[in-house]
Amino acid sequence: MEFWLAPLHGITHYHFRNCLNRHVGGISVAVTPFLPVEAAGRLNVKKWVDIQPDNNVGLDIIPQLIGNTPSHFVDTIRALQGLGYERFNWNIGCPAAQVVRKRRGCGIMPYPEMVEAVVREVADQTTCRFSIKMRLGLKRPQESFQILERLQGYPLDFVAVHPRLGVQEYEGVPDLTAFQQLQNAFHYHFVYSGDIVDLLSYHHIQSYFNVVDCCLLGRGILRNIFLAEELQSGKTLPREVRFRRFQHFYEDYTNTLLSARGPHAALANLKELWHYFATFFHLSPENLIELLRCTDYTAFDALAHDIVLRAQNV
Ligand SMILES: Cc1cc2nc3c(=O)[nH]c(=O)nc-3n(C[C@H](O)[C@H](O)[C@H](O)COP(=O)(O)O)c2cc1C
Repeated sequence: MEFWLAPLHGITHYHFRNCLNRHVGGISVAVTPFLPVEAAGRLNVKKWVDIQPDNNVGLDIIPQLIGNTPSHFVDTIRALQGLGYERFNWNIGCPAAQVVRKRRGCGIMPYPEMVEAVVREVADQTTCRFSIKMRLGLKRPQESFQILERLQGYPLDFVAVHPRLGVQEYEGVPDLTAFQQLQNAFHYHFVYSGDIVDLLSYHHIQSYFNVVDCCLLGRGILRNIFLAEELQSGKTLPREVRFRRFQHFYEDYTNTLLSARGPHAALANLKELWHYFATFFHLSPENLIELLRCTDYTAFDALAHDIVLRAQNV
C-alpha cells in the first residue's frame, strides 16, 4: 500500500511538507493544497511559492487545482508544465460555502456535464496526467456515480474519494459501503481518503477496499506524524522513540516557520496544528485551552516546548 499526504489547505504547505519529509518516512507523494486556475493573461505561476520546484526539492508533489472553466484549466496546466509538472489533481470535493456557491469544489458535483467539460478539454488540449479528488456528492451519493459514469471514456490518472457528502463537511463517518459500490461499478484507479487515524481504523477501512493500493492521510498525520510509518510496518513506535523524534520534528518546524513567516503567522499556524498534536500528547482540554490562549509567540513556544519535553520524561 502507498500512503500519500492529503492536501490540507493552510496546513500542508511546503514548509510542513519539507519538514515532515526530513523527519518521517512512509509517505511517497503529497497532493498540494488547491490553487485556483486562471486564464493565461492573469496567470503568474512564479507567485505560487508552494509549488515552486526549488521549494519542493526531494518531494514528489501533485499540484491540486480548483475551478470550473475548461479553458482556464488548459492555460494553467500548460503554464505549470513549464515548471516541470506532469500530474495535476482537480479538487471537486471542497465543501466550504464560499467555494460551493461558485460551483467550484464540491459545488460542481451536482453538474456532471460541467465536470465532463473540464475533463474533456484537459484530455483534448493537454498532455498531462489528470486526476480528480471528490466526495460522494454535494447532497446525494448518486452524484459521484453520475460523474464517474460520464467520465468513463477519459484517461483519468486516479480518482481520490473522500466518502462523505459536501453538506456533511467533516461530520459523521465516511460511507464505506458507498465507496465499495463505486469500486464495484467502475474501473478507475481509486485512491481512498478519510478518517484513517491509527492501525485499528486503517484495518477497518481497508476491509472495504477491493482494488485500492493507495490512501491519502490527512488529519491522521497531524494527530500522529508517524502514522504512515506505523501503517507500513504494522506496529506503533515505542513511546520514547516517538516523543524524541517528535521533538526533533517540532524544533525544526518551529524554527523554519519562524524564520520564513515571522512570529505572528507562525503562532496562528502552530495553534491550528496543536488542535491535532493535542491528541498525540493526550493533552487535557484545559491544557489545550491554556496553550491556545497565548497571544504572544514566546509564551506559546515555551509552553509548547514544555509539553513536548515533559512527554519524554513521563
Ligand atoms: C483543514 C482542512 C483543509 C483541507 N484542504 C483540502 C484541500 O486543499 N484540497 C482537498 O482536496 N481536500 C482538502 N481537505 C480534505 C482532506 O484532503 C481529506 O480528504 C479529508 O480531510 C479526509 O481525510 P482525513 O480524515 O485523512 O483528514 C481539507 C481538510 C481539512 C480538515
